[in-house]
Amino acid sequence: PVLVVDFGAQYAQLIARRVREARVFSEVVSHTMTVDEIAAKKPAAIVLSGGPSSVYAEGAPQLDPALFDLNVPVFGICYGFQAMAGALGGTVTHTGTREYGRTDIDVSGGTLHDGLPSTQPVWMSHGDAVTEAPEGFEVVATSAGAPVAGFENRARRLAGVQYHPEVLHSPHGQQVLSRFLHDIAGIAPTWTAANIADALVEQVREQVGDGRAICGLSGGVDSAVAAALVQRAIGDRLTCVFVDHGLLRAGEREQVQQDFVAATGARLVTVDAVDTFLRELDGVSDPETKRKIIGREFIRSFEGAVSAELGDSAAQGESIDFLVQGTLYPDVVESGGGSGTANIKSHHNVGGLPEDLQFSLVEPLRLLFKDEVRAVGRELGLPEEIVARQPFPGPGLAIRIIGSVTPDRLATLRHADAIAREELTMAGLDSQIWQCPVVLLADVRSVGVQGDGRTYGHPIVLRPVSSEDAMTADWTRLPYDVLERISTRVTNEVREVNRVVLDVTSKPPGTIEWE
Ligand code: XMP
Repeated sequence: PVLVVDFGAQYAQLIARRVREARVFSEVVSHTMTVDEIAAKKPAAIVLSGGPSSVYAEGAPQLDPALFDLNVPVFGICYGFQAMAGALGGTVTHTGTREYGRTDIDVSGGTLHDGLPSTQPVWMSHGDAVTEAPEGFEVVATSAGAPVAGFENRARRLAGVQYHPEVLHSPHGQQVLSRFLHDIAGIAPTWTAANIADALVEQVREQVGDGRAICGLSGGVDSAVAAALVQRAIGDRLTCVFVDHGLLRAGEREQVQQDFVAATGARLVTVDAVDTFLRELDGVSDPETKRKIIGREFIRSFEGAVSAELGDSAAQGESIDFLVQGTLYPDVVESGGGSGTANIKSHHNVGGLPEDLQFSLVEPLRLLFKDEVRAVGRELGLPEEIVARQPFPGPGLAIRIIGSVTPDRLATLRHADAIAREELTMAGLDSQIWQCPVVLLADVRSVGVQGDGRTYGHPIVLRPVSSEDAMTADWTRLPYDVLERISTRVTNEVREVNRVVLDVTSKPPGTIEWE
């Protein structure tokens, strides 16, 4: 793989995605990894990410110069660029001028910017600057605040830039990254959907051997693609289980039973666990506690399904040893499993597992980003209704009720959500938004008036977001007439709701879901 060394900024995952967009496999690793550990991963190249601090700051993550003795191509970005310059004998200076945001650079010579406009906008975020490139390096970019804004040494296959090529505000950034990977590092672009699917099917075959597996379907893209992959690998030794936990949106149970089964021909067992989940969640309003309970009960339901599934054959010593989950790379990294980054939320399919878990996990998607999962799904022949589906969290409507979960509140939210989804679909907006959670503020009431009467009802929040990968998101500017139709219909048709509000927070600082 190409290893993206995370120096603690929020950019490492984005860089990893951009590397994959250049059709090269990448993984995020922590800057605490030693040079020996890095060497053991046999990286095709190393990308040093940006970091939050100055290279001079106390406790600033250090770069071991021995990294450059591995004879592996290295690309430094921002902080990584400065750390690289320092380690190779260049000069990094407190220039006193800060560059933040959109900046123009002038480029000349070299490979990174070959064929690109000689003056181009990039996204900068730095205080210190490289004032002298290390010996043997060609300076290929400069800006007002960064005398050395890019350098390269083709013979040693080393290069770096002061700006952030991974963000969209650097319009040529993807090309620069590709130039490094393909032309300087010499890596072939073989990370394609067909290759990924083949490799994953092979991996699953190896892991499961002649064992049997069970897969929980949530109705979402991830579990459907994971199940389709495993089915291709082990055929009818896979049993799919759909747990109806009562936290689903209107029509979802039927959709899973029809769309997925029609597409794959998989055998599907539906578990009705509504009563159990609602009992366990009774009176619980803390988000993390909800997530932990739901994660635990999910697994318990599977275990119950396995026993039922095996029936008498269990007596003959047969068992189901593997549990398939559609865990994605961002879940892994956000749960702290990727690089030691902070635990932001315990995603129900990673952090909330019970300790007495009886299955070995099969997580064929755990290194993939969402767009890669969709591409693999199409490769496997799943229909658009499944692969283009907007994300919906495993814990379902439970984390969209702010307060404790009750059957009445679920019914209210389900009704409001169905209206919002219907209006968004009719307005043709589904492909423009990433998802639009509808959130019920169950512990909040406000005064309203309807007809001649005073009402004292609950608000619902519309949370339409645009995103590429859910790691960052912007709130979607929905047309006013669509908002108006949703608002009018929800307040007219859903008795308990007398107010509709719009969430205009980006991520960060807000997460997409409210809990
Ligand atoms: P946040 O709220 O963290 O959400 O910005 C990012 C994306 O992940 C979805 N999400 C989940 N998906 N299990 C899931 O399978 C979970 O526990 C979970 N929590 C959030 C969320 O809908 C958004 O797309």
